[in-house]
Amino acid sequence: MRDSSSKVGQFRWLAVTSDGARMFLYDQLDLPGPNESHVLSRDDAEFIFDLVKSQSCSCTLELGFSWGCSTAYIVAASNAPHVVVALRGQHTERGLHNIRKLGLAEFLTFIDGPSHLIFPRLINSRFQASFILANGTHRFEAALVDFFYCDKVLKSGGMLMIDEAWLPSIQMVSAFIRSNRTDYTEIATPTGSQFLFRKEREDVRAWNHFEPFGLEP
Ligand SMILES: C[S@@+](CC[C@H](N)C(=O)[O-])C[C@H]1O[C@@H](n2cnc3c(N)ncnc32)[C@H](O)[C@@H]1O
Repeated sequence: MRDSSSKVGQFRWLAVTSDGARMFLYDQLDLPGPNESHVLSRDDAEFIFDLVKSQSCSCTLELGFSWGCSTAYIVAASNAPHVVVALRGQHTERGLHNIRKLGLAEFLTFIDGPSHLIFPRLINSRFQASFILANGTHRFEAALVDFFYCDKVLKSGGMLMIDEAWLPSIQMVSAFIRSNRTDYTEIATPTGSQFLFRKEREDVRAWNHFEPFGLEP
């Protein structure tokens, strides 16, 4: 989805003066209260901003959208094309409004659908991203499938961030990457609310490679 209304975004300057954007963005977003839901915290949002900015990303991908908070920070930091794959739901319009209001919609392609159906289309179109935020589905097997597909579209040297690190299902997916994917290096995050991995190179494991893994007791 390309959104022409972005061209008159009141805060369009945010997209070009992105160092300043980091400080002001959160207050401009129409977000639920901290007790209403698992909305991204200001600290986490600003960490994402700094991370994306340091990567000089040419294209980024996000699973999940809701209020568009993480989307706003990613796009304000990169000023690059950003693809969102999410289920259009009760918060989507509020999220799109946030992105339009900030004048960032021209960077956004919003794809409505479950990630396991959308990923094969992205792969077929040779889509590649240098930063991915996975915050869509959170059940274990679906999040593992998301990782499988994220790996297919993530460039070597790119970063994969997986949100909701407090969930055992997400901890289990991260345990798999940590123990089995030697082509990924884990990077600590300031709040520990997300898992972060850098893809160092292409996967060269043996065809039958498998290391048992599990949650720390
Ligand atoms: C926690 S919210 C994302 C919050 C967002 N990162 C923010 O900062 O506002 C989770 C999102 O995942 C989406 N979602 C759930 N299951 C999904 C699936 N199978 N594929 C894609 N998106 C999914 C939901 O529609 C919702 O937008």
